[in-house]
Amino acid sequence: VANERESMYLVSEYARDYYHNILLNHPKGKAIGYSYFKERGFTDETIKKFELGYGLEDWDAFTQNAQNKGYDIQFLEKTGLTIVNETKQFDRFRGRVLFPIHSMSGRVLGFGGRILTNNKKVAKYLNSPESVIYHKSHILYGLYHAKQSIAKEDNCFLVEGYTDVISFSQNGVENVVASSGTALTPDQIRLVRRLTQNITILFDGDAAGIRASIRGIDLILEQGMNVKVLSFPEGDDPDSFSKRVSTDELKEYLNDNAQDFINFKVSLLMKDAQNDPVKKAGLIRDIVVSISKIPDRIQREVYIQECARIMQISENVLFSELAQMFKKEQ
Ligand code: CTP
Ligand code: MN
Ligand code: MN
Ligand code: MN
Ligand code: MN
Repeated sequence: VANERESMYLVSEYARDYYHNILLNHPKGKAIGYSYFKERGFTDETIKKFELGYGLEDWDAFTQNAQNKGYDIQFLEKTGLTIVNETKQFDRFRGRVLFPIHSMSGRVLGFGGRILTNNKKVAKYLNSPESVIYHKSHILYGLYHAKQSIAKEDNCFLVEGYTDVISFSQNGVENVVASSGTALTPDQIRLVRRLTQNITILFDGDAAGIRASIRGIDLILEQGMNVKVLSFPEGDDPDSFSKRVSTDELKEYLNDNAQDFINFKVSLLMKDAQNDPVKKAGLIRDIVVSISKIPDRIQREVYIQECARIMQISENVLFSELAQMFKKEQ
């Protein structure tokens, strides 16, 4: 149907307005949802900018309301806002604070919903299901709000989570987007490439974050973009770090600690490899694999020279290793 997408956008935008209004004006929305965001240090301005919301605990408060306003159950179901089974229809997002997810042009595609407790039995975040309008593998959370700043700063900070984006933005760093818990995809990177050639990965300071950073490096290089990596102290994520520092301190930290990908890999793995020639060789090969992903030949050469200098090994050896890798691919 030609109007299916538009109908899905319209019901999603109604939901955004409804849940935002509940957060700001409903007694329970204020006591639970609004208070939660306040406790996390989000200002009223931030709550409005990101159109944050709250879904009441009732089974079908939203679905009832939307149907009364004339929204068709067909589109409520297709967007995943309403779950329909044989016996009943009920709201997907109940008792959660909500983060609307926008397209690059500002249409509402879906939502992420966070529980308020730290009850480990329930998934912390529940997201909209894949649908005609919501494909999580080619959406970046925050891109709509960040796009001008990304172009102006000629750099994009890539973080993991909704609250990382929001905290940075509130603290004056607006050129930030989140992969939102999915493994980074080429489609997501290409969205950024329209605005800048430069991405800085800022993943959580835990093992999962480091693994995801390493995967992200090669994907970004394959898209012909430049990648830097910045680690946070263990246990921190961009949100928790940003909350402790001023705008100037945050910007200074980002400036001082962004490493190019070779130095990132070296500082991550060199402790292990220092006195072990076999491990050191493995690290060098690992870096050359990343370099082999770069489409531009001149850039590859520049990085080979840098790697040779840092690892104190001859460029010739690295170039022949690189040539071997291209041979193997064919
Ligand atoms: N995520 C998800 N489903 C989960 C856990 C995480 O979709 N069950 C996504 C969310 O987009 C989340 C991101 O992965 O924002 C990063 O996860 P995590 O670091 O665990 O959450 P935070 O963003 O740090 O959330 P908070 O600070 O609210 O705990
Ligand atoms: Mn698609
Ligand atoms: Mn994490
Ligand atoms: Mn996190
Ligand atoms: Mn967090």
